[in-house]
Amino acid sequence: MCGIFAVSGEKNGKAGEAVLKGLKKLEYRGYDSWGIATQEAEKIVVIKEVGKISKATPNFSSSECAIGHSRWATHGKVTSENSHPHFYKTVTLVHNGIFENYEKEKQRLIKKGHIFTSETDTEVIAHLIYEELQKNNTPKDAVRNVANIITGRFALLVLIDGNSQIIAIRRGSPLIIGRTQNTSYIASDIPAFLEYTNIVNYIDDDEMAIVEKGEVEYFDVVSGKSILKRDIEVSWKDEVLDKGDYDHFMIKEIFDQKSSLASAINHSDEEINNFIEKLQKGNGVYMVSCGTAHKASMSAEYYFSQIAKRKINVVPASEMPAFEHFINEKTVLFAVSQSGETADILEVLEQGKKKGATIISITNVESSAIAKISDNHLPLRAGKEKAVASTKATTSQMALLLLLAYADSKRLNEGRQILQNLAANVNEMINPRYEDHIKEVAKKLSDIKNIFIIGRNSLYPMALESAIKIMEVSYIHAQGFAAGEMKHGPIALIEEGTVCIVLGGDMETISNATELKSRGARIIGVAPERDKIFDDWLKVPESSCAQSIVSILPVQILAYYLAIERGLDPDMPRNLAKSVTVK
Ligand code: F6R
Repeated sequence: MCGIFAVSGEKNGKAGEAVLKGLKKLEYRGYDSWGIATQEAEKIVVIKEVGKISKATPNFSSSECAIGHSRWATHGKVTSENSHPHFYKTVTLVHNGIFENYEKEKQRLIKKGHIFTSETDTEVIAHLIYEELQKNNTPKDAVRNVANIITGRFALLVLIDGNSQIIAIRRGSPLIIGRTQNTSYIASDIPAFLEYTNIVNYIDDDEMAIVEKGEVEYFDVVSGKSILKRDIEVSWKDEVLDKGDYDHFMIKEIFDQKSSLASAINHSDEEINNFIEKLQKGNGVYMVSCGTAHKASMSAEYYFSQIAKRKINVVPASEMPAFEHFINEKTVLFAVSQSGETADILEVLEQGKKKGATIISITNVESSAIAKISDNHLPLRAGKEKAVASTKATTSQMALLLLLAYADSKRLNEGRQILQNLAANVNEMINPRYEDHIKEVAKKLSDIKNIFIIGRNSLYPMALESAIKIMEVSYIHAQGFAAGEMKHGPIALIEEGTVCIVLGGDMETISNATELKSRGARIIGVAPERDKIFDDWLKVPESSCAQSIVSILPVQILAYYLAIERGLDPDMPRNLAKSVTVK
């Protein structure tokens, strides 16, 4: 959610160009507008524009130091005024996160005569830092003092006129420094600078870095004291983001599932059992997640119930405040997240930690804030997921959660065997012929207005997930239901030609689908066997308790091709961003 990137010590004077290039690699974090500030001989020059940074071709003057931002709007419309960098007199900055109490400070400053040119919370931070500088604070202390005023999560990069430093500070939003001998890079995510270096320092919460002419010093925000950081060498392979021969990351990542499922379950027995031991100690387990990860968690509720006879309370993280009074030192909070950065989840975990709850998590990013706050964490190892719509991370989450349910019932080997067979079946199933068949089905559906999806048991959450996938990339209205629920109301919407995707070929689901067919529905069946009521059939292997994992795959491909048929960019759907680091 918003990408930020900076470079210091660019000896060829190409800092602006380097920031532009780096931001293009972070575009998945936000793509409604962008801006770059370069520190030139006499002044700081800001360029900002509405639109995708991938399409931008600005010209920069020579500069060794620059900061930039690719925006996902939170406060204020998508306009050039609201895009970052924001500045006030001598202070220029970019911001990822939310300044929750900004309105109160803004009103105080307005009373003092300050004039604001944007609707953003970020601009207020520039004014506050300026105010602190006027009190003769050093730039470092001015930024520290303002960090104490801000409630909410943030990562900030600040430039001050007449000073060649970049001040970077973080609480809750990611910020990583990449270092070479002469040049330093500061970014929301590693791929932005990976072409220059794989030596990184992670800035943790309430830490700051002062970067000058490529040299970096780290400080604790509270004490102001200097701290040392360990150089970490990241693997190039894990971070490389390349579409290869594919047209989009989304379809590449769907095909990555040929191997990602096997990686998800490739944890040692000891790692799995240690994780399960923590879960079993809990008196009340709450699984918290958002969006697609929440639908994977809902499937896991069925796995744990049916395989391990354990009740898991699955709650969307944003709804947890209503259940907070149940959380105590005996509770286990189980976070499921691709990015490991999602603010709604972090909020729940931080509150839970204060009450002594045990925190366990599965994420795809091992260095993420959710992984760090956890008492036990298992990585998904799905490889970088860059398309906004989650695909391979979702099925990896489900595979690992299914394995954990087997481990919970002391049948880890049986679970492994089932999932290894599943991984092999998926590898065979996703092939160009299968893809072409689904593409043909998508062609027939591209101008429809509504799609309904039904499923039963652990396929019910996949009906909900199918709706998310279709809506977010194709903008077709889609809605998922428990198969048995259609007749309790939504069936009123079925008329001649209404498209219904039916997940599963069991007798009861087919009977529900027949009720829809009788009212004119056009049925797309996702099942191991073709039923006579299917107008189109997307075949999936028979996978018993893992049926939910294989059944979402053809719908992911269908969603992708619906977007393509409608001339949309499935990697960067409107109004969305890859990781949601604001509440
Ligand atoms: C949809 C999608 C989102 C995410 C949600 C949680 O395709 O990707 O719904 O699942 O924003 O994100 P993570 O898993 O990073 O916590």
